[in-house]
Order: sequence, then structure tokens, then C-alpha cells
Amino acid sequence: MARILAIESSCDETAAAVIEDETRVLSSVIASQFSVHGKYGGVVPELASREHLRAIVPVVREALERASLTWKDLDAVAATSGPGLAGSLLVGLTYAKAIAFATGIPLIAVNHIEGHIHAVILETMQRRGLSGFKPVDFPALALIVSGGHTHLYEVREGGVYRLLGRTRDDAAGEAFDKVAKLLGFGYPGGPVIDRLAPYGDPHSVRFTIARMKGNTLDFSFSGLKTAVLRWVESHDLAGEIEARKRLLRNNPQPSLDEWLLTTPQPTRDLLAGFQHTVIEELLRHAASAAEQNDGVRSLIVSGGVACNSGLRAALTQAATGLPVFFPSAALSTDNAVMIAAAAFPKFRRGEFTSLEIPAEPNLALA
Ligand code: KG4
Ligand code: ZN
Repeated sequence: MARILAIESSCDETAAAVIEDETRVLSSVIASQFSVHGKYGGVVPELASREHLRAIVPVVREALERASLTWKDLDAVAATSGPGLAGSLLVGLTYAKAIAFATGIPLIAVNHIEGHIHAVILETMQRRGLSGFKPVDFPALALIVSGGHTHLYEVREGGVYRLLGRTRDDAAGEAFDKVAKLLGFGYPGGPVIDRLAPYGDPHSVRFTIARMKGNTLDFSFSGLKTAVLRWVESHDLAGEIEARKRLLRNNPQPSLDEWLLTTPQPTRDLLAGFQHTVIEELLRHAASAAEQNDGVRSLIVSGGVACNSGLRAALTQAATGLPVFFPSAALSTDNAVMIAAAAFPKFRRGEFTSLEIPAEPNLALA
């Protein structure tokens, strides 16, 4: 029996989890910093590292307590070493090094994106033996869409990755967050836009995304963000934006009805049109990647934006020609279970890291 404690601190969540033998989740603890960054409309790096420092010891302690374990029950400690915010990564990685040093167990460094991919692989492995179970068949395509990343990879068994395309500017989640901030919906923007988009007409405000020169599997979302900004500038929205900011000041988590009350139909249509455009773009890329790589047998979609209900409904086997695998909502956004899941194959292969390893904000998976 093997147990790995994993720590994730690459952005604005301090998380720790313990997994036993690849798939048994003994505990998962996440301290989110939404309330700290919400009023700034995005993650403030200095505040994030300060919050990680506050949270890291209690979060790891709670992960051990919930698993009813002590340090001596662990076989390895894993941490995200990149990509992410330097000051945030440092807190989790340094704490993991201290645990490895003090207890003598090996340290495993995990790429955050590899973690998002393994969130999906872990959950399909957990369903093995259940009716309706379908394994992820390799080679697979992986579309990772989050606040920091929009990447398309080919994934082969044994942790071999090939980058097929990536965003040249904003990540998909970043586009959701920037549009939400512009319109007074606070941070993070994805979940609010996801809830309001069904109340708008996705074809009333039309946006287009220019086709890429060079690698056609690369993404670009900054033009769409600018198009939304232009639309907002040419419509008189100051009053409703102020009303939403006021609503957020009084209640950091407004209900759907409260959001609808402060969001007139043209803005609902704008949100629906924006979300529709992002989804179409992701869909188009996934379908062309499937077409261009005829050996691939499944599609993994992961990262915070994989929570989006419109994307889940649109990105089906019929649309891409491949069986599609999404993580559960809990494992879509940042967590440490996915880091432990990605660490397990490395543990089995004996891929341990020296305590000298640096945090790497721009660490590439391939
Ligand atoms: O994976 P994640 O927790 O952190 C990063 O690695 O970036 O992703 C967070 C991102 C944010 O940009 C957030 O707005 C977006 O995921 N997000 C969503 C939804 N839930 C979270 N975007 C669209 N629809 C959602 N339901
Ligand atoms: Zn992430």
C-alpha cells in the first residue's frame, strides 16, 4: 500500500490531499482565496502568496487529520513546481521540501497542467468495474482550459505529452474573468457568466475570432475581449455596472435572481454571445485536432473552464468524433487530488526530485 500527500499552491487555492494506491482519495482540503481577490477583479500575486503562507500549515494538517494519518504513514510528498505564480508556487513547494527533509520521504515535483489531465484519468479509473464505465483510451487529446492556460496536447500512456496548440495571448478563463470584471460581475467571472448565459440569446450579439496564421491549433482570445469592450463602450451600461458592484459589496455571493435583476436583456445577450463564441472556438480546435491526429482515441477536457455547462453540453462525441471525458466539478478547478494523481505514476517509476528543485513559473509540459 502506498500513500502520497500532495500540495497545490500555484495560483489562488491552497490545497492538500492524500491518495492511497492511485485512486483512493483519503482526504482533500482546499482553502480558496476568492474573498481576498474578489474586489480586485483578479488574483493579486502578493496577496496570494501571503494567503498561502497563512493557510499552508493548517490545510496540510487538516488533510492528514481527515485521512487519520501521521507523517510516518506517508510514502512520498508531491507538490506543484510550476507553472504558476512564483510567490505562490514557492510556498507549497518549500513546505513539501521541508516535509521531505524532516521525514526522509521522497519529493515528487508535478506540473500543474499534468495535474489537470490526471484529475480526469483518476476519476475514470475510480469508475472501473461500474456499469457504463469507459476508460480513457490512449493516445488521447487533452484540452486544458483554465484561468492561466489554454493548451491542446496529445497524451500517450506513460506520461508522454506533445503540445499541439496553445493560446498566444489570454487564456479562456482569463477572457471570462476580464469580461466579468469589465461588467461589474466580480471575480472569478466564469461561474457567473455560465449561470447568466442561458438567459440571453447567443446569436443576438455576434462576435468572430480571426483564424490563426501559422499553427491553426493555436488560440487567441484577446481580440474577443477587445470586441466585448467596444460593445460595452458603445452602450450606456454605467448604471447597471454600478448596481452590480453595489450588489457585490453588500453580498459577495449574490443569488441568480439578484444577478438577473441587475442585468438587463441586452447584457444577458452579450454574455450569451461571448460564451457561445468561446465555446465554438474550443470546439473547432478540438475537432480539428481530432481530424489532424487520426490515431487519437479520446478527448480529455480539464481546468476551471471545464466546469462550464455550455461547454459540457456542446463538446460531445458527436461534435468531435471522440469520446469526451470531463472531470467532476470538484476536480475541475484547482485542487491537490489531481497533483497526487499525477504523482502516482512518477512514484511507481521512482521519479523523485532533489530538494534543490526551483519553482518554475513558466514550466512547460511539452
Ligand atoms: O483551473 P483553475 O481553478 O485555475 C487555474 O489553473 O487557472 O481555473 C480557474 C478559471 C477562472 O478563470 C474561472 O473564471 C474559470 O476557471 N471558471 C469557469 C467556470 N468555473 C470556473 N469558466 C467558465 N465557466 C465556469 N463555470
Ligand atoms: Zn489550474
